[in-house]
Amino acid sequence: MTKCMSSIHQFYTTRRRVWLKWRKLSPTAFWSRSASSCRTAPEVLHPDERKGASCNQVTKTPHKQRSSCLPVLEHFDQQYSQELGDLWESARSVLLDPQSWQYGVLLNRFSILADLPQTLRSQGFSLLPLTDGCKFFSPDLSAVSSPQKRAGGDSQDIPRDPIEDSRLRPSSADVALDRDLQLEPSFRLTRPPLRCYINPRPVRFPSQPHWPGQLKQYYLLNAASLLPVLALQVRDGEKVLDLCAAPGGKAVAIMQCATPALLCCNEPDPHRRGWLARTLESFLPSPLSSRVTVSAQDGRSFGQREEAAYDKVLVDAPCSNDRSWLYSRDSQQGAQRLKERAKLSALQVQLLRSALSTVRPGGVVVYSTCTLSRSENYGVVETVLNDCPEAEPEDLWKELALPLSGCFSFTRSGCGGETLASTSSYRHRLGILAFPQPGKTWGPMFVSRIRRRE
Ligand SMILES: C[S@@+](CC[C@H](N)C(=O)[O-])C[C@H]1O[C@@H](n2cnc3c(N)ncnc32)[C@H](O)[C@@H]1O
Repeated sequence: MTKCMSSIHQFYTTRRRVWLKWRKLSPTAFWSRSASSCRTAPEVLHPDERKGASCNQVTKTPHKQRSSCLPVLEHFDQQYSQELGDLWESARSVLLDPQSWQYGVLLNRFSILADLPQTLRSQGFSLLPLTDGCKFFSPDLSAVSSPQKRAGGDSQDIPRDPIEDSRLRPSSADVALDRDLQLEPSFRLTRPPLRCYINPRPVRFPSQPHWPGQLKQYYLLNAASLLPVLALQVRDGEKVLDLCAAPGGKAVAIMQCATPALLCCNEPDPHRRGWLARTLESFLPSPLSSRVTVSAQDGRSFGQREEAAYDKVLVDAPCSNDRSWLYSRDSQQGAQRLKERAKLSALQVQLLRSALSTVRPGGVVVYSTCTLSRSENYGVVETVLNDCPEAEPEDLWKELALPLSGCFSFTRSGCGGETLASTSSYRHRLGILAFPQPGKTWGPMFVSRIRRRE
Protein backbone atom coordinates (compact mmCIF):
# COMPACT_ATOMS: atom_id res chain seq x y z
CA MET A 1 0.00 0.00 0.00
CA THR A 2 2.83 2.38 0.94
CA LYS A 3 4.52 1.61 -2.37
CA CYS A 4 1.27 2.15 -4.20
CA MET A 5 0.87 5.55 -2.55
CA SER A 6 4.44 6.53 -3.34
CA SER A 7 3.98 5.77 -7.03
CA ILE A 8 0.76 7.78 -7.08
CA HIS A 9 2.67 10.55 -5.29
CA GLN A 10 5.46 10.42 -7.86
CA PHE A 11 3.00 10.68 -10.76
CA TYR A 12 1.34 13.77 -9.36
CA THR A 13 4.65 15.38 -8.39
CA THR A 14 5.72 15.18 -12.03
CA ARG A 15 2.44 16.71 -13.18
CA ARG A 16 2.83 19.51 -10.70
CA ARG A 17 6.36 20.22 -11.90
CA VAL A 18 5.08 20.57 -15.47
CA TRP A 19 2.40 22.96 -14.31
CA LEU A 20 4.85 25.05 -12.28
CA LYS A 21 7.06 25.30 -15.34
CA TRP A 22 4.15 26.55 -17.40
CA ARG A 23 3.15 29.08 -14.77
CA LYS A 24 6.66 30.48 -14.74
CA LEU A 25 6.46 30.95 -18.47
CA SER A 26 3.14 32.80 -18.22
CA PRO A 27 3.75 35.82 -15.98
CA THR A 28 0.68 37.76 -17.16
CA ALA A 29 -2.20 37.78 -14.69
CA PHE A 30 -4.03 34.57 -15.52
CA TRP A 31 -7.43 35.71 -14.43
CA SER A 32 -7.46 38.86 -16.46
CA ARG A 33 -6.88 36.70 -19.51
CA SER A 34 -9.24 33.93 -18.52
CA ALA A 35 -12.28 36.16 -18.55
CA SER A 36 -11.74 37.14 -22.16
CA SER A 37 -13.42 35.43 -25.04
CA CYS A 38 -11.20 33.44 -27.36
CA ARG A 39 -13.69 32.65 -30.07
CA THR A 40 -11.18 33.35 -32.76
CA ALA A 41 -8.46 31.37 -31.07
CA PRO A 42 -6.67 28.93 -33.27
CA GLU A 43 -6.37 25.35 -32.11
CA VAL A 44 -3.31 25.24 -29.92
CA LEU A 45 -1.36 22.84 -27.82
CA HIS A 46 -2.20 22.32 -24.19
CA PRO A 47 -0.46 24.80 -21.87
CA ASP A 48 1.51 21.92 -20.41
CA GLU A 49 3.02 21.53 -23.83
CA ARG A 50 3.40 25.04 -25.16
CA LYS A 51 4.35 28.17 -23.33
CA GLY A 52 2.06 31.13 -23.18
CA ALA A 53 -1.12 29.56 -24.55
CA SER A 54 -3.99 31.60 -23.21
CA CYS A 55 -7.02 30.34 -21.40
CA ASN A 56 -10.08 29.08 -23.27
CA GLN A 57 -8.08 28.19 -26.33
CA VAL A 58 -8.90 24.68 -27.23
CA THR A 59 -6.55 21.80 -27.62
CA LYS A 60 -6.96 19.43 -30.47
CA THR A 61 -3.89 17.33 -29.91
CA PRO A 62 -3.98 17.01 -26.17
CA HIS A 63 -1.26 14.49 -25.64
CA LYS A 64 2.28 14.05 -26.54
CA GLN A 65 2.82 10.75 -28.25
CA ARG A 66 2.54 8.20 -25.48
CA SER A 67 3.43 4.57 -25.59
CA SER A 68 1.56 1.96 -23.65
CA CYS A 69 3.18 -0.33 -21.12
CA LEU A 70 3.37 -3.82 -22.56
CA PRO A 71 3.21 -5.90 -19.33
CA VAL A 72 0.09 -3.97 -18.28
CA LEU A 73 -1.51 -4.31 -21.72
CA GLU A 74 -0.86 -8.05 -21.79
CA HIS A 75 -2.31 -8.44 -18.33
CA PHE A 76 -5.42 -6.45 -19.28
CA ASP A 77 -5.79 -8.41 -22.53
CA GLN A 78 -5.84 -11.66 -20.66
CA GLN A 79 -8.16 -10.56 -17.88
CA TYR A 80 -10.58 -8.29 -19.72
CA SER A 81 -11.13 -10.42 -22.80
CA GLN A 82 -12.35 -13.09 -20.40
CA GLU A 83 -14.41 -10.75 -18.28
CA LEU A 84 -15.81 -8.42 -20.94
CA GLY A 85 -15.76 -10.49 -24.12
CA ASP A 86 -16.16 -8.32 -27.24
CA LEU A 87 -16.55 -5.14 -25.20
CA TRP A 88 -12.86 -5.31 -24.36
CA GLU A 89 -11.75 -5.05 -28.01
CA SER A 90 -13.46 -1.69 -28.50
CA ALA A 91 -12.60 -0.39 -25.01
CA ARG A 92 -8.99 -1.40 -25.68
CA SER A 93 -8.91 0.52 -28.97
CA VAL A 94 -9.97 3.70 -27.16
CA LEU A 95 -7.60 3.28 -24.22
CA LEU A 96 -4.71 2.80 -26.63
CA ASP A 97 -5.55 5.95 -28.56
CA PRO A 98 -5.24 9.01 -26.27
CA GLN A 99 -5.76 11.25 -29.29
CA SER A 100 -9.39 10.08 -29.34
CA TRP A 101 -10.12 10.86 -25.68
CA GLN A 102 -12.91 13.30 -24.91
CA TYR A 103 -12.84 15.83 -22.08
CA GLY A 104 -15.57 17.33 -19.96
CA VAL A 105 -15.67 20.88 -18.62
CA LEU A 106 -17.53 21.15 -15.31
CA LEU A 107 -18.56 24.75 -14.66
CA ASN A 108 -18.08 26.25 -11.21
CA ARG A 109 -21.32 27.81 -10.00
CA PHE A 110 -19.40 29.95 -7.51
CA SER A 111 -17.25 31.66 -10.12
CA ILE A 112 -18.11 34.42 -12.59
CA LEU A 113 -18.32 32.63 -15.89
CA ALA A 114 -18.65 35.63 -18.20
CA ASP A 115 -19.11 34.30 -21.72
CA LEU A 116 -17.57 30.89 -21.02
CA PRO A 117 -20.71 28.88 -21.94
CA GLN A 118 -20.95 30.68 -25.28
CA THR A 119 -17.25 30.12 -25.91
CA LEU A 120 -17.65 26.44 -25.15
CA ARG A 121 -20.58 26.15 -27.51
CA SER A 122 -18.68 27.94 -30.24
CA GLN A 123 -15.98 25.29 -29.86
CA GLY A 124 -18.51 22.48 -30.37
CA PHE A 125 -19.20 21.71 -26.70
CA SER A 126 -22.73 21.06 -25.48
CA LEU A 127 -24.24 20.42 -22.07
CA LEU A 128 -24.25 16.88 -20.78
CA PRO A 129 -27.97 16.18 -21.00
CA LEU A 130 -28.78 15.62 -17.37
CA THR A 131 -32.50 15.21 -17.14
CA ASP A 132 -35.13 14.27 -14.59
CA GLY A 133 -33.33 10.94 -14.31
CA CYS A 134 -31.01 12.78 -11.97
CA LYS A 135 -33.60 13.44 -9.35
CA PHE A 136 -31.89 16.28 -7.55
CA PHE A 137 -32.58 18.59 -10.45
CA SER A 138 -35.20 21.20 -9.84
CA PRO A 139 -38.28 20.55 -11.97
CA ASP A 140 -38.48 24.30 -12.41
CA LEU A 141 -35.14 24.33 -14.14
CA SER A 142 -35.85 21.42 -16.41
CA ALA A 143 -39.05 23.20 -17.42
CA VAL A 144 -37.24 26.37 -18.46
CA SER A 145 -37.68 26.72 -22.19
CA SER A 146 -34.54 27.57 -24.05
CA PRO A 147 -34.19 30.50 -26.42
CA GLN A 148 -33.34 27.98 -29.17
CA LYS A 149 -36.52 26.07 -28.54
CA ARG A 150 -38.59 29.21 -28.40
CA ALA A 151 -37.12 30.33 -31.71
CA GLY A 152 -37.86 26.93 -33.21
CA GLY A 153 -34.16 26.63 -34.12
CA ASP A 154 -32.59 23.52 -35.52
CA SER A 155 -30.78 22.59 -32.35
CA GLN A 156 -33.80 21.73 -30.27
CA ASP A 157 -32.22 18.59 -28.88
CA ILE A 158 -29.22 20.41 -27.50
CA PRO A 159 -29.82 21.15 -23.83
CA ARG A 160 -29.38 24.85 -23.16
CA ASP A 161 -27.54 26.19 -20.19
CA PRO A 162 -30.37 27.08 -17.78
CA ILE A 163 -28.35 29.72 -16.01
CA GLU A 164 -28.17 31.67 -19.23
CA ASP A 165 -31.90 32.17 -19.03
CA SER A 166 -32.23 35.78 -17.89
CA ARG A 167 -34.56 34.80 -15.05
CA LEU A 168 -31.82 32.66 -13.55
CA ARG A 169 -28.63 34.49 -14.38
CA PRO A 170 -26.84 35.73 -11.23
CA SER A 171 -25.31 39.16 -11.53
CA SER A 172 -22.19 37.96 -9.70
CA ALA A 173 -20.80 35.01 -7.78
CA ASP A 174 -21.65 36.78 -4.52
CA VAL A 175 -25.30 36.87 -5.42
CA ALA A 176 -25.22 33.17 -6.17
CA LEU A 177 -23.63 32.49 -2.82
CA ASP A 178 -26.00 34.73 -0.87
CA ARG A 179 -28.82 32.95 -2.53
CA ASP A 180 -27.44 29.58 -1.46
CA LEU A 181 -26.44 30.43 2.05
CA GLN A 182 -29.03 32.93 3.17
CA LEU A 183 -32.16 32.45 1.14
CA GLU A 184 -32.24 28.71 1.63
CA PRO A 185 -36.00 28.14 1.41
CA SER A 186 -36.14 29.71 -2.04
CA PHE A 187 -32.86 28.67 -3.63
CA ARG A 188 -34.22 25.27 -4.55
CA LEU A 189 -36.03 27.02 -7.36
CA THR A 190 -33.05 28.88 -8.67
CA ARG A 191 -30.08 26.64 -7.88
CA PRO A 192 -28.32 25.79 -11.13
CA PRO A 193 -28.01 22.10 -11.91
CA LEU A 194 -24.67 20.47 -12.38
CA ARG A 195 -23.41 21.88 -15.67
CA CYS A 196 -20.84 19.86 -17.55
CA TYR A 197 -19.99 20.58 -21.16
CA ILE A 198 -18.82 17.73 -23.36
CA ASN A 199 -17.58 17.57 -26.91
CA PRO A 200 -18.10 14.73 -29.38
CA ARG A 201 -14.56 15.40 -30.60
CA PRO A 202 -11.35 14.96 -28.61
CA VAL A 203 -11.06 18.64 -27.83
CA ARG A 204 -10.12 19.96 -24.44
CA PHE A 205 -9.87 23.29 -22.75
CA PRO A 206 -6.62 24.13 -21.01
CA SER A 207 -6.59 23.52 -17.29
CA GLN A 208 -6.61 26.60 -15.10
CA PRO A 209 -3.68 26.84 -12.69
CA HIS A 210 -4.26 27.38 -8.99
CA TRP A 211 -4.14 31.06 -8.17
CA PRO A 212 -4.55 31.87 -4.46
CA GLY A 213 -7.64 33.94 -3.78
CA GLN A 214 -9.18 33.34 -7.21
CA LEU A 215 -11.95 30.91 -7.97
CA LYS A 216 -11.53 28.74 -11.03
CA GLN A 217 -14.29 28.80 -13.59
CA TYR A 218 -14.21 25.14 -14.48
CA TYR A 219 -12.79 21.72 -13.69
CA LEU A 220 -11.59 19.45 -16.49
CA LEU A 221 -12.60 15.86 -16.07
CA ASN A 222 -13.58 12.59 -17.62
CA ALA A 223 -17.34 13.14 -17.68
CA ALA A 224 -17.91 9.59 -16.37
CA SER A 225 -16.46 10.84 -13.06
CA LEU A 226 -19.75 12.60 -12.50
CA LEU A 227 -21.69 9.35 -12.39
CA PRO A 228 -20.86 8.51 -8.74
CA VAL A 229 -21.81 12.05 -7.75
CA LEU A 230 -25.12 11.81 -9.60
CA ALA A 231 -25.78 8.45 -7.95
CA LEU A 232 -25.17 10.01 -4.52
CA GLN A 233 -28.08 12.45 -4.98
CA VAL A 234 -26.86 14.90 -2.38
CA ARG A 235 -29.54 17.25 -1.07
CA ASP A 236 -29.15 20.59 0.65
CA GLY A 237 -28.51 20.32 4.35
CA GLU A 238 -27.24 16.72 4.33
CA LYS A 239 -24.08 15.48 6.02
CA VAL A 240 -21.80 13.98 3.39
CA LEU A 241 -18.51 12.12 3.65
CA ASP A 242 -16.11 11.79 0.71
CA LEU A 243 -14.01 8.96 2.15
CA CYS A 244 -11.21 8.92 -0.47
CA ALA A 245 -11.27 12.51 -1.62
CA ALA A 246 -8.03 13.66 -3.30
CA PRO A 247 -7.54 15.41 -5.62
CA GLY A 248 -11.10 16.62 -5.02
CA GLY A 249 -12.88 16.42 -8.36
CA LYS A 250 -15.92 14.68 -6.95
CA ALA A 251 -16.02 16.96 -3.92
CA VAL A 252 -16.15 19.92 -6.32
CA ALA A 253 -18.93 18.21 -8.29
CA ILE A 254 -20.91 17.50 -5.10
CA MET A 255 -20.79 21.18 -4.24
CA GLN A 256 -22.15 22.03 -7.68
CA CYS A 257 -25.22 19.87 -7.01
CA ALA A 258 -26.23 21.03 -3.56
CA THR A 259 -25.21 22.86 -0.43
CA PRO A 260 -24.72 20.16 2.21
CA ALA A 261 -24.65 21.06 5.89
CA LEU A 262 -21.27 19.34 5.98
CA LEU A 263 -19.00 17.83 3.36
CA CYS A 264 -16.12 16.03 5.04
CA CYS A 265 -13.32 15.29 2.55
CA ASN A 266 -11.02 12.58 3.84
CA GLU A 267 -7.58 11.80 2.44
CA PRO A 268 -4.81 10.00 4.35
CA ASP A 269 -1.95 10.70 1.92
CA PRO A 270 -0.39 14.02 3.04
CA HIS A 271 0.76 15.11 -0.40
CA ARG A 272 -2.57 14.34 -2.00
CA ARG A 273 -4.34 16.02 0.91
CA GLY A 274 -2.44 19.21 0.09
CA TRP A 275 -3.62 18.91 -3.47
CA LEU A 276 -7.19 18.35 -2.26
CA ALA A 277 -6.99 21.49 -0.10
CA ARG A 278 -5.82 23.51 -3.11
CA THR A 279 -8.67 22.16 -5.23
CA LEU A 280 -11.24 23.13 -2.61
CA GLU A 281 -9.69 26.56 -2.25
CA SER A 282 -9.77 27.01 -6.02
CA PHE A 283 -13.43 26.14 -6.43
CA LEU A 284 -15.27 27.08 -3.26
CA PRO A 285 -15.77 30.57 -1.83
CA SER A 286 -14.47 31.09 1.69
CA PRO A 287 -17.94 31.43 3.34
CA LEU A 288 -18.42 27.75 2.52
CA SER A 289 -15.29 26.69 4.37
CA SER A 290 -17.22 26.01 7.58
CA ARG A 291 -19.27 23.43 5.67
CA VAL A 292 -16.40 21.74 3.86
CA THR A 293 -13.75 20.15 6.04
CA VAL A 294 -10.66 18.06 5.30
CA SER A 295 -9.71 15.08 7.43
CA ALA A 296 -6.72 12.75 7.31
CA GLN A 297 -7.91 9.38 8.53
CA ASP A 298 -7.41 5.92 7.17
CA GLY A 299 -10.82 5.34 5.63
CA ARG A 300 -10.84 1.76 6.88
CA SER A 301 -11.29 2.92 10.46
CA PHE A 302 -13.61 5.85 9.79
CA GLY A 303 -16.69 3.74 10.50
CA GLN A 304 -15.56 2.91 14.02
CA ARG A 305 -14.93 6.53 14.89
CA GLU A 306 -18.01 8.10 13.38
CA GLU A 307 -20.69 5.48 13.37
CA ALA A 308 -23.96 6.35 11.61
CA ALA A 309 -22.89 10.00 11.42
CA TYR A 310 -23.51 10.75 7.73
CA ASP A 311 -26.49 10.80 5.36
CA LYS A 312 -24.39 10.03 2.30
CA VAL A 313 -20.94 8.51 1.88
CA LEU A 314 -18.89 8.36 -1.31
CA VAL A 315 -16.18 5.69 -1.57
CA ASP A 316 -14.28 6.59 -4.72
CA ALA A 317 -11.81 3.87 -3.97
CA PRO A 318 -8.12 3.58 -4.75
CA CYS A 319 -8.09 1.14 -7.68
CA SER A 320 -6.11 -0.06 -10.65
CA ASN A 321 -6.78 3.06 -12.69
CA ASP A 322 -6.78 1.41 -16.13
CA ARG A 323 -6.17 4.54 -18.19
CA SER A 324 -3.24 5.65 -16.14
CA TRP A 325 -1.74 2.20 -15.56
CA LEU A 326 -1.66 1.50 -19.29
CA TYR A 327 0.72 4.44 -19.59
CA SER A 328 2.98 3.47 -16.70
CA ARG A 329 6.34 5.20 -16.89
CA ASP A 330 8.18 1.99 -17.75
CA SER A 331 7.66 -1.75 -17.58
CA GLN A 332 9.14 -1.87 -14.08
CA GLN A 333 6.52 0.50 -12.77
CA GLY A 334 3.84 -1.39 -14.68
CA ALA A 335 4.95 -4.73 -13.21
CA GLN A 336 5.05 -3.24 -9.72
CA ARG A 337 1.52 -1.94 -10.08
CA LEU A 338 0.27 -5.30 -11.28
CA LYS A 339 1.88 -6.92 -8.26
CA GLU A 340 0.06 -4.52 -5.95
CA ARG A 341 -3.17 -5.08 -7.82
CA ALA A 342 -4.00 -8.31 -6.06
CA LYS A 343 -4.18 -6.48 -2.73
CA LEU A 344 -6.54 -3.77 -3.89
CA SER A 345 -9.82 -5.67 -3.56
CA ALA A 346 -9.14 -6.40 0.12
CA LEU A 347 -8.55 -2.70 0.78
CA GLN A 348 -11.68 -1.75 -1.19
CA VAL A 349 -13.80 -4.23 0.79
CA GLN A 350 -12.55 -2.71 4.05
CA LEU A 351 -13.27 0.81 2.84
CA LEU A 352 -16.79 -0.09 1.73
CA ARG A 353 -17.54 -1.84 5.04
CA SER A 354 -16.27 1.16 6.92
CA ALA A 355 -18.47 3.45 4.81
CA LEU A 356 -21.53 1.36 5.59
CA SER A 357 -20.86 1.79 9.32
CA THR A 358 -20.43 5.53 8.85
CA VAL A 359 -23.73 6.05 7.09
CA ARG A 360 -26.95 6.37 9.12
CA PRO A 361 -29.72 3.80 8.73
CA GLY A 362 -31.66 4.86 5.62
CA GLY A 363 -28.63 6.66 4.19
CA VAL A 364 -26.68 5.61 1.11
CA VAL A 365 -23.13 4.72 0.19
CA VAL A 366 -21.88 5.04 -3.37
CA TYR A 367 -18.91 2.89 -4.26
CA SER A 368 -16.96 3.73 -7.43
CA THR A 369 -13.75 2.86 -9.23
CA CYS A 370 -12.17 3.78 -12.55
CA THR A 371 -11.20 0.26 -13.53
CA LEU A 372 -12.89 -2.42 -15.63
CA SER A 373 -11.68 -5.12 -13.23
CA ARG A 374 -14.54 -7.31 -12.11
CA SER A 375 -12.91 -8.25 -8.81
CA GLU A 376 -12.53 -4.57 -7.84
CA ASN A 377 -16.09 -3.76 -8.92
CA TYR A 378 -18.86 -6.36 -8.69
CA GLY A 379 -16.57 -8.63 -6.61
CA VAL A 380 -16.09 -6.03 -3.87
CA VAL A 381 -19.78 -5.14 -3.71
CA GLU A 382 -20.82 -8.78 -3.60
CA THR A 383 -18.34 -9.62 -0.84
CA VAL A 384 -19.57 -6.78 1.34
CA LEU A 385 -23.26 -7.51 0.72
CA ASN A 386 -22.74 -11.15 1.64
CA ASP A 387 -21.87 -10.32 5.22
CA CYS A 388 -23.87 -7.14 5.67
CA PRO A 389 -27.59 -7.98 5.84
CA GLU A 390 -28.61 -4.37 6.47
CA ALA A 391 -27.13 -3.28 3.12
CA GLU A 392 -29.41 -3.17 0.09
CA PRO A 393 -28.06 -2.57 -3.45
CA GLU A 394 -30.06 -0.15 -5.61
CA ASP A 395 -30.56 -0.37 -9.35
CA LEU A 396 -28.95 2.54 -11.18
CA TRP A 397 -29.83 1.32 -14.64
CA LYS A 398 -33.09 3.23 -15.11
CA GLU A 399 -31.99 6.19 -13.07
CA LEU A 400 -28.59 6.83 -14.65
CA ALA A 401 -27.60 4.42 -17.40
CA LEU A 402 -30.70 4.69 -19.58
CA PRO A 403 -31.05 8.51 -19.48
CA LEU A 404 -27.35 8.96 -20.20
CA SER A 405 -26.95 6.18 -22.75
CA GLY A 406 -26.70 8.74 -25.57
CA CYS A 407 -23.38 9.92 -24.13
CA PHE A 408 -21.95 6.92 -22.29
CA SER A 409 -21.74 3.18 -22.99
CA PHE A 410 -22.88 1.08 -20.05
CA THR A 411 -23.06 -2.53 -19.01
CA ARG A 412 -24.50 -3.78 -15.76
CA SER A 413 -23.55 -7.41 -15.93
CA GLY A 414 -19.83 -6.71 -16.23
CA CYS A 415 -19.62 -9.19 -19.07
CA GLY A 416 -20.08 -8.54 -22.77
CA GLY A 417 -21.31 -12.04 -23.56
CA GLU A 418 -24.00 -11.98 -20.90
CA THR A 419 -27.36 -10.69 -22.11
CA LEU A 420 -29.47 -8.55 -19.84
CA ALA A 421 -32.22 -11.16 -19.85
CA SER A 422 -29.90 -13.90 -18.67
CA THR A 423 -28.63 -12.06 -15.62
CA SER A 424 -30.49 -11.99 -12.35
CA SER A 425 -32.09 -8.80 -11.15
CA TYR A 426 -29.96 -9.03 -8.01
CA ARG A 427 -26.82 -9.02 -10.15
CA HIS A 428 -28.14 -6.01 -12.06
CA ARG A 429 -28.40 -4.10 -8.83
CA LEU A 430 -24.74 -4.59 -7.97
CA GLY A 431 -23.69 -1.69 -10.16
CA ILE A 432 -23.27 -0.16 -13.61
CA LEU A 433 -20.05 0.12 -15.57
CA ALA A 434 -19.38 2.94 -18.03
CA PHE A 435 -16.75 1.68 -20.45
CA PRO A 436 -14.95 3.56 -23.24
CA GLN A 437 -16.13 3.04 -26.79
CA PRO A 438 -15.18 4.88 -29.98
CA GLY A 439 -17.13 8.15 -30.03
CA LYS A 440 -18.09 7.71 -26.34
CA THR A 441 -14.65 7.50 -24.85
CA TRP A 442 -15.67 8.24 -21.25
CA GLY A 443 -14.82 5.83 -18.45
CA PRO A 444 -14.01 3.28 -17.22
CA MET A 445 -16.21 4.10 -14.25
CA PHE A 446 -17.99 1.57 -12.08
CA VAL A 447 -20.76 2.84 -9.80
CA SER A 448 -22.74 0.99 -7.18
CA ARG A 449 -25.25 2.45 -4.72
CA ILE A 450 -26.00 0.66 -1.47
CA ARG A 451 -28.65 1.76 1.00
CA ARG A 452 -28.36 0.95 4.69
CA ARG A 453 -31.76 -0.34 5.74
CA GLU A 454 -33.64 1.62 8.41
C1 LIG B 1 -9.51 7.36 -6.94
S1 LIG B 1 -8.69 8.40 -5.85
C2 LIG B 1 -10.00 9.49 -5.36
C3 LIG B 1 -10.30 10.52 -6.38
C4 LIG B 1 -11.22 11.61 -5.83
N1 LIG B 1 -12.45 11.07 -5.30
C5 LIG B 1 -11.57 12.65 -6.87
O1 LIG B 1 -12.65 12.60 -7.47
O2 LIG B 1 -10.76 13.53 -7.11
C6 LIG B 1 -8.53 7.41 -4.43
C7 LIG B 1 -7.93 8.13 -3.23
O3 LIG B 1 -8.00 7.23 -2.11
C8 LIG B 1 -6.88 7.50 -1.28
N2 LIG B 1 -6.70 6.36 -0.36
C9 LIG B 1 -5.81 5.34 -0.45
N3 LIG B 1 -5.93 4.55 0.64
C10 LIG B 1 -6.90 5.06 1.40
C11 LIG B 1 -7.47 4.70 2.67
N4 LIG B 1 -7.04 3.64 3.34
N5 LIG B 1 -8.44 5.47 3.18
C12 LIG B 1 -8.89 6.57 2.50
N6 LIG B 1 -8.38 6.94 1.31
C13 LIG B 1 -7.40 6.21 0.77
C14 LIG B 1 -5.76 7.68 -2.28
O4 LIG B 1 -4.67 8.35 -1.69
C15 LIG B 1 -6.45 8.48 -3.38
O5 LIG B 1 -6.28 9.85 -3.18
